Amino acid sequence: MTVEYHELKVKAVIPETPDCTSFELEVPKGLREAYRYRAGQHLTFRFPWDGFEVTRCYSLSSCPDLGEPMKIGVKRVQGGRVSNWMNDNLRVGDSMLASVPEGRFVLDPGTRSGTPLFLFAGGSGITPIISLLKSALATTNRPITMLYANQSRDSVIYRAELDELAAHHPDRLSIHHHFDSDRGFVDEAGIASILHHTDTAELYICGPEPFMDLVERVLTRAGVHEELIYVERFVSPLDPDREHAGGLDVTSLEAPEAFSLWLDGRSRTVPYLKGRTLLQCAQAAGLSPPHSCESGFCGSCMSAVKTGSVYMRAHEALSSRDVARGVALLCQSYPSSPEPLELDADSTSFRAPSAVKSSYGKAWSTVAAAAVFALMVAGTLVLRLVP
Ligand SMILES: Cc1cc2nc3c(=O)[nH]c(=O)nc-3n(C[C@H](O)[C@H](O)[C@H](O)COP(=O)(O)OP(=O)(O)OC[C@H]3O[C@@H](n4cnc5c(N)ncnc54)[C@H](O)[C@@H]3O)c2cc1C
Ligand code: FES
Repeated sequence: MTVEYHELKVKAVIPETPDCTSFELEVPKGLREAYRYRAGQHLTFRFPWDGFEVTRCYSLSSCPDLGEPMKIGVKRVQGGRVSNWMNDNLRVGDSMLASVPEGRFVLDPGTRSGTPLFLFAGGSGITPIISLLKSALATTNRPITMLYANQSRDSVIYRAELDELAAHHPDRLSIHHHFDSDRGFVDEAGIASILHHTDTAELYICGPEPFMDLVERVLTRAGVHEELIYVERFVSPLDPDREHAGGLDVTSLEAPEAFSLWLDGRSRTVPYLKGRTLLQCAQAAGLSPPHSCESGFCGSCMSAVKTGSVYMRAHEALSSRDVARGVALLCQSYPSSPEPLELDADSTSFRAPSAVKSSYGKAWSTVAAAAVFALMVAGTLVLRLVP
């Protein structure tokens, strides 16, 4: 099944800072169900561009739990194509081709109430973070600590909204602003100083690459378990005119005839179709693992490689630590050895707690199945022995 795209109209254009604009989007009545989303998710947009098409993801900064109009915030990137075009040209009434919402940078509904939540945002990384923040405030009683780093006071996106949230929830929300213009870039000590109860907390990071790397490093040093850290990387795909020439001939790779894919709590056997990505093979077998951009930059199709090995054509959405840990993007992966290949698409983000929970779930379902089987055998014996 391919990702659904529909034309969405811009219904409001809101200047946020000198280099960031928000756009409210109108979802036609008949598509409301398709565009239901969770806080932290994004839309992928397609734009015609000089004879070819470019795709970009933008996170939803609105909160679905508050019934807010669907909204994205787009910050200019120096030399960037789409972000500047949108800031300069997009007007009320214009339409854009947008995918249905996707993404795994979401709150885990299974998290125990009261679990501390840490949010780290840098610059435009605030867009999914503010959505998570509003959702956690509206639907949980979790204490929330947030660090928001910006170049200067002028570049704080959603300042008024953040101030209002902090004023309304003084007992469980503390927001720490950092301005490079005052003290230089945020450093390790600044991040470490706001951490507490990190053995149980869940932590979400979104911002420029060096900011995210720094926060991840501090959290790792503080002993935070990687499964508790959620990361969203803001990257662009390689546009067709920027595509690298060459690349590996994937049909020459040795591969097993089929691979196993954990999806929706069940292991499925998927025939491998030579030269097709693992995502395409799963789709050909009638499965629909989470996916969105199909270009390796949104991270929606992240899966854990349990056994065997894969070759990825691109993996912009992953850090080198992710790759070393065995995270693969189904939309970019091909088997690269004849060994049996097993992947887990249920491992939300490879690091998400639900990954831990789902593996506990799988272990528990095995134990439960064994227990049921033992009871059935015992029942049969009792029936045979009872005269
Ligand atoms: C899941 C997800 C959610 C996102 N959410 C948001 C959001 O809420 N808000 C937001 O503002 N952004 C968000 N982004 C980032 C967004 O998708 C774009 O990456 C960003 O807007 C930059 O796109 P652009 O077309 O303006 O820049 P691009 O044209 O992609 O260029 C980016 C930079 O790379 C340089 N560059 C790249 N390739 C070349 C090349 N071959 N030659 C020369 N220069 C090159 C450009 O000069 C520029 O500096 C998100 C990304 C993802 C994956
Ligand atoms: S679907 Fe976006 S990275 Fe695979």
